[in-house]
Amino acid sequence: MEQIKLEEFNHWWITNKVDEDLALQFKRDIYNIIEKRIENRFILALTGLRRVGKTTILYQLIQNLIEKKVEPTNILFFSFDDNKAEISDIINSYKDFQKKDFRKERVYIFFDEIQKCVNWENEIKKYYDLYPKIKFIISGSESLFIKKRMKETLAGRLFDFVLATFTFNEYLKFNGVNESEFKYETKIKPFLHSFIERGGFPESLSFKNDREFREYIKALVVDKIVYQDIPKLFKIQDPEFLKVLLELIATNPGAYIDYQSLSKQFDKDRRIIKNYISYLKEGFLINMLGNYRKGSIATLRKKKRAYPTDNSLIYLYTSNINSDFFGKMVETCIVNCLNATTFWKDNGEIDIIHKGIPIEVKYQEKINFGDFKNLREFMKKFNRHEGILVTKIDEKTIDFDEGSIKLIPVHKFLLEERYF
Ligand SMILES: Nc1ncnc2c1ncn2[C@@H]1O[C@H](COP(=O)(O)OP(=O)(O)OP(=O)(O)O)[C@@H](O)[C@H]1O
Ligand SMILES: [Mg+2]
Repeated sequence: MEQIKLEEFNHWWITNKVDEDLALQFKRDIYNIIEKRIENRFILALTGLRRVGKTTILYQLIQNLIEKKVEPTNILFFSFDDNKAEISDIINSYKDFQKKDFRKERVYIFFDEIQKCVNWENEIKKYYDLYPKIKFIISGSESLFIKKRMKETLAGRLFDFVLATFTFNEYLKFNGVNESEFKYETKIKPFLHSFIERGGFPESLSFKNDREFREYIKALVVDKIVYQDIPKLFKIQDPEFLKVLLELIATNPGAYIDYQSLSKQFDKDRRIIKNYISYLKEGFLINMLGNYRKGSIATLRKKKRAYPTDNSLIYLYTSNINSDFFGKMVETCIVNCLNATTFWKDNGEIDIIHKGIPIEVKYQEKINFGDFKNLREFMKKFNRHEGILVTKIDEKTIDFDEGSIKLIPVHKFLLEERYF
C-alpha cells in the first residue's frame, strides 16, 4: 500500500485533529457505550443500516482519542468501501511508514466496511492474537457475521454493536429540543409526526422537498444495498427481485411472510424467496418477528411477520398516507424502537410480545372496550398480569380480572424506556 493512500485516510497524522465535517458534534447514545470500551482488549464491531452514522462514530472515537492525548499516528483508519486491499498489506505498510512496534506501542486500528474484505475475520484474529496492544474497531454495513463460523472465529474476542436510525429521543435532541422542555403540544407533537412519517435517518430533515428525500433513501440506502452490498456478499441472480420483496414488505408493514404463496405469486422457488428475504435482513432493511410460544421452539416453524427497519423505507414507496396506514407506521416504529422479536397469533393476535409483556398499538382517536380483548386473552392464557396499549393520546391504567393494562401515548412510549 502506498504511503500517500494511507495518509489520505489519516489526515490527523498531519493536522493533529479529525476534520470537523467528519467527527460531527452530535453524539449518538451508543457512542458513550462504545467509547467506554475503547481501552479494553476486545475488538469492537459496529454494524447497521447504510447512512445511519457508523463512519461518523468511528471518526468521533478517533477525535476523542486524540483529545485524550493519544499520539495521532498511533491511530490508523482505512475504509474498504470502494478500496480493494489486503488487511496484512495495510497493517504492514502502516507499521513501516510510521515505524510502529506493535509489541511495545498501543495502536488503534479502525477498519470501515470490513465485510468487503474477503477472509477478514481470520486476518483480524491473527493480529489480535499476535499483538495484544492493537485495538481493533471494525464496522460494516451488513451483518458482519452472516456465517456462523465468522463469529466462532472471533469468539470471546469481540463486542458487537448494532446502530439503528435515530431513536425519537435522539431525534428530538438532534433537532434542538432539550429534555427539560419535552412539552407535548409545542415541542414534541410537530416532530412526532415527521419522525413517524419519514423515519429517523440523521439526514431525514435536511431535504428541501419530498422528492429529494425519497431520491436520497432510494439511491443511498436501498439501491446501494440491493445493487452493491448484497450482490458482493451473496451470489444473487436478480437484485431487482430484492427490491420487489422490499417494496412488498414496506407497503405492508407487519405482513405475514408465507414462502409458499410468495413462491406461487412470483413463480420462483421457495428457497429463493427465503434466501432473498434473509439477505434483506442481513442488509438491515427488514426485521422479522416470530410467533410467541412460551418455552417452546415451535415459533421457528410458524409464519413470521416482516417490518422495514425504518419508516423512511415505507415513505419511499407510499405517496398517500391515510390515517389507517399512519397507524401501521406507528406500529412499525414501536416494533423497531423495542427491537421486537416476537408477536402472538392464536385465535387473537398481538403486535408485540416483549420480555413476556403483550403490547398492542392502537393509534386511534378513541379506545374501545373491544380493544383490550386480545391483550386480556393473552394475559389469561399465559398468566401475565400486565399488558400495554400504545395509544394516540389516552393515558391511564385499567384493571381487569386478568391484571392491569397501561395505556401509554406513543410519544411517551418512545421516549421512556422505563416501561421495561
Ligand atoms: N452524529 C451525527 N450528527 C449529525 N449528522 C450525522 C451524524 N451521524 C451521521 N450523520 C449524517 O448522516 C450521514 C451518514 O453518516 P455516516 O456516513 O456516518 O453513516 P454510515 O452509517 O457510515 O453510512 P454508510 O453505510 O453509507 O457508510 C452523514 O453524512 C451525516 O450527514
Ligand atoms: Mg460509512
